[in-house]
Formats: sequence, structure tokens, C-alpha cells
Amino acid sequence: MSSDSSRYKFKHHPETCDPEDYWGQVKRTVNGKPVSPEQIGLIVDSIRDGLQLGSDDVLLDLCCGNGALTSHLFDGCAGGLGVDYSEFLIEVANRRFSRNPSERYLLADALDYVLNGQNPGEFTKVLCYGAFPYFGPDAARSMLRGLNRRFGRVTHLYLGQLPDKSRIGRFFTDRDPAPGEADDPGSLLGLWRTPDELAALAEDAGWTARPIHQPDRFFASHYRFDAVLTRRRAG
Ligand SMILES: C[S@@+](CC[C@H](N)C(=O)[O-])C[C@H]1O[C@@H](n2cnc3c(N)ncnc32)[C@H](O)[C@@H]1O
Repeated sequence: MSSDSSRYKFKHHPETCDPEDYWGQVKRTVNGKPVSPEQIGLIVDSIRDGLQLGSDDVLLDLCCGNGALTSHLFDGCAGGLGVDYSEFLIEVANRRFSRNPSERYLLADALDYVLNGQNPGEFTKVLCYGAFPYFGPDAARSMLRGLNRRFGRVTHLYLGQLPDKSRIGRFFTDRDPAPGEADDPGSLLGLWRTPDELAALAEDAGWTARPIHQPDRFFASHYRFDAVLTRRRAG
């Protein structure tokens, strides 16, 4: 497996940020400013609800970034593991956000971890927030199939911040997307999918997808959606 199964183009962006600009490092900004704590609260509540995250759950956060978001979720469960391929961000996560041995952060490629990581049976819930669109069709399919096949105790998977192809015009208000841009996992927001396309991808990998639309007060609600995947067949 190559060390880069996604086409995320900002791998080295965190190194250009202030060491304590935790939301800037993972590009959770509007007009260059970190989003507000209220916005983060909406994200955290939606993930907790979608995953039905409980105190006994063990969470795997794929593409966890610096752990700023993961740590809010570890607060509501038994801990788990964040995986990211940015050395810079995993160092921040371990130094700033890991509070005890049940909150672990690992430097690894996310797809490689899904296909080859150790002890997949320890996890009960999985999150991939703000990163799934950067995995092209083959890598996305492998990831969902691998989670279904190897992670037998996982009941819910939350995919967050998916650019919605059926509402693409609400994002591109001052220019048209370049030819092929919406289908390019290496583009600014990655690969755009409609909720139906995401549902078909999930179904092929053994999951049932339920789209989640954020309330209007969420900063990206007009062009993004989230999805909760639940298991429809054993892997
Ligand atoms: C927009 S940030 C989101 C970080 C975090 N999930 C959050 O929502 O705060 C995207 C993250 O995906 C990570 N990433 C992208 N491709 C990856 C891959 N193939 N394996 C592991 N991490 C990856 C990047 O390093 C970055 O931290």
C-alpha cells in the first residue's frame, strides 16, 4: 500500500499554521478564521447522535487530524484511536490532546490501517470527518468494504462533511466548477457525490446509508451533508 491512499492536497498545510491554531491546522475556518465553539458543538452533537455514541463505545477516528475534534468525542465514550498520515498533526494530537492511555493517536495512512491495522475487533464505532471525499472511487470502496469485513463489532460509521453534488451550485456562486473538478478527489473539496451516489457506494460495501442535513445555522449546511452507515450484512 502506498503511503497516500487519498488525494488530499493540504497534507503540508498544518506546518504553515501557528502551533496553537488547532482549527486552522485542519482547515476548519471561514474566511480564514477558526469556526466558533457553537459550530464545533453542532458537529460534535451530530456525530454523537449519529453514532449513538455511548460510554462503552471504542471509537476509531480515521483521518483524525490533530485530535481537536476527536478529543470531544473521546469525552463521551471509552476512548479509542485516531489515525492520520500527517506527522505534524499526530505529534500535536499526542502532545496536546491525548489525556490518558485510552486516547491514542497513530501515524498511518487511513486505508492502510483499515486493511491491515491490528486489533480491529476492539472498535465499535468509526468516524471519518472532513476527509472521505479525498479518497477516489476505488479507495473509498476498499475502505468501506474493509471496515465491513474486518471491523466486525462496528455498528455505525459516520462520514462527515461530504460535498453534495446535487447542490454544487450553492458552493460555486462566483465561478463554474472546472471540467471534471467535481469528480476529482484531488480538487479543493475532493470528490462531490449526491446522497444517492453515497448510498449506492455504501450498499455495495455492505452498509445502509442515512443522509444527515445540518441545520441552516451550520456554516456549510448549504452544500454539504453527512451520512451515518449501519451494517446491512456481515462482511
Ligand atoms: C480537513 S482535515 C480533517 C481532520 C479531522 N478529521 C477534523 O475533522 O478535524 C483532513 C485530514 O485528513 C488527513 N488525511 C487525508 N488523507 C489521509 C490518508 N490517506 N490517511 C490518513 N490521513 C489522511 C489529513 O492529514 C487531515 O488531517
